[in-house]
Amino acid sequence: MQRHLITSAIPYINGIKHLGNLIGSQLPADLYARYQRARGNEVLFLCATDEHGTPAELAAAKAGKPVAEYCTEMHAVQAEIAKGFGLSFDHFGRSSSPQNHALTQHFAGRLADANLIHEVSEQQVYSNADGRYLPDRYIEGTCPNCGYDKARGDQCENCTKQLDPVDLIEPRSAISGSTDLEVRNTKHLYLRQSALKGDLDAWINSKTDWPVLTTSIAKKWLHDGDGLQDRGITRDLDWGIPVRRGDAEWPGMEGKVFYVWFDAPIEYIACAGEWADANGHADWERWWRTDKGAGDVRYTQFMGKDNVPFHTLSFPATLLGSGEPWKMVDHLKSFNYLNYDGGQFSTSQGRGVFMDQALAILPADYWRWWLLSNCPETSDSEFTWELFQQGVNKDLADVLGNFVSRVTKFCRSKFGETVPAGAAYGPREQALIEDLDARVARYVAMMEAMEVRKSAQELRAIWVAGNEYLQSCAPWTTIKEDPEAAAMQIRMGLNLIALYGTLSSPFIPDASAKMLMAMGVEDAQWPSDMAQALTQLSPDHPFTVPDNLFTKITSEDTEKWKEQFSGTRD
Ligand code: MF3
Ligand code: ZN
Repeated sequence: MQRHLITSAIPYINGIKHLGNLIGSQLPADLYARYQRARGNEVLFLCATDEHGTPAELAAAKAGKPVAEYCTEMHAVQAEIAKGFGLSFDHFGRSSSPQNHALTQHFAGRLADANLIHEVSEQQVYSNADGRYLPDRYIEGTCPNCGYDKARGDQCENCTKQLDPVDLIEPRSAISGSTDLEVRNTKHLYLRQSALKGDLDAWINSKTDWPVLTTSIAKKWLHDGDGLQDRGITRDLDWGIPVRRGDAEWPGMEGKVFYVWFDAPIEYIACAGEWADANGHADWERWWRTDKGAGDVRYTQFMGKDNVPFHTLSFPATLLGSGEPWKMVDHLKSFNYLNYDGGQFSTSQGRGVFMDQALAILPADYWRWWLLSNCPETSDSEFTWELFQQGVNKDLADVLGNFVSRVTKFCRSKFGETVPAGAAYGPREQALIEDLDARVARYVAMMEAMEVRKSAQELRAIWVAGNEYLQSCAPWTTIKEDPEAAAMQIRMGLNLIALYGTLSSPFIPDASAKMLMAMGVEDAQWPSDMAQALTQLSPDHPFTVPDNLFTKITSEDTEKWKEQFSGTRD
């Protein structure tokens, strides 16, 4: 049995996420977690809300609520929606947890002891109109690297470059839009990432199996020196984790907090502590400390491409710099962007379909299947209502749903609601078994490699193989001359449904559970031997006809939704 630690980038607390956010980390992470569990491996799958920094403060101000209260409410909302999408986190934590406060302060203390933190009197943008400093997202302007005119003070969304507010060209306040800004001196802590350049370089070079999208971004920022400039890890804000040196005060840093991108990834670890505390003090260190049992853990992170520099440079710098044996990421899977109908999904502009809205229209499996099978892996991909309708109708309704319905209904009407015996499997069945054996091996290889789209293609091909089998043997005709053969073919069909229930569960967990329940399979086992898997339901085994698994999306539906989602959300 393998042990898999899996984390998804933790979503900002500032409101409900859109489908582009979902497919950019949480959903593929869930696919992988469900797959590894289905293979019988031990999995710890963690996610949380990212509650500090300017996104949280700005959103709370907009909602007219104290930040802490806003975060508590939004955490509950996001947790509920995550459940609705079947995201199977072992724990959905909060970066504002006491565990993360303690651990973040611990790391800062270790880094300071290792002489990797220094104090800098630096320039910060102060807004006269707003009467306050404007760190990170409180300021917007033009990116000095690519010219994008909505770059934020901490990062350019367009080219992924990490920025400092003072770098922006034509800066303006994100609160008031004011350009009446001045630069003032204030004291902050800097992490000496540059001192860790050699260690990071060696570590990244050892990751020869990482996707190019990941390593190219990491190496770009590593080698032009840029991502490794020493970075400020504190801010002049009220909301956040107070700056302390481990358990001790940090003279001169009173009233300041750690920068959100310093504490957020540490929440991956703290979240395991939250999970442990919520589950009778389970042992979380065996997942995170190589000196305490995490040596054999395989750690995989999922995230959008804009998050890659923080996960390949900043967070590893924190871990390496601590000098403690923390588990480092083994595989980092990153994604491009999903676009919405010719433009971008946008939280700030309320453009696109948001997770709560999606669930109000259709069950989770429809979205899961379409998003995963069209996931923005090698390039950006595009959501349109037509493509969504086509994908769902063809794959789920015509291929899978129709197969399940035809087999079960035909059986009920001709043989009753138990698996019919009939003849023994013949050459056609033998050929199908061999074909599926090879296909499942390919599916497994793609899932192991986290090739999301290719995995979906292989799974679809497995469904199609069943349909083609049924079409070619046509039990509804066979039954007239050879009822024994027809019974055997239907026995194969029912076994295929049980097989599909198991294989499809990482993608479409609800429909899969219905298939398995209808076939009376309680303890689904991943198929190791195809001949055995396709005889698991023996004659006389009872089954039921499930309700229609998927309803087709009509053109009236898509017209209506297109209209409904053409504007912006309030
Ligand atoms: N909240 C960030 C985003 O949505 C991701 C934070 S990931 C972590 O882009 F590493 F910081 F945890
Ligand atoms: Zn840019």
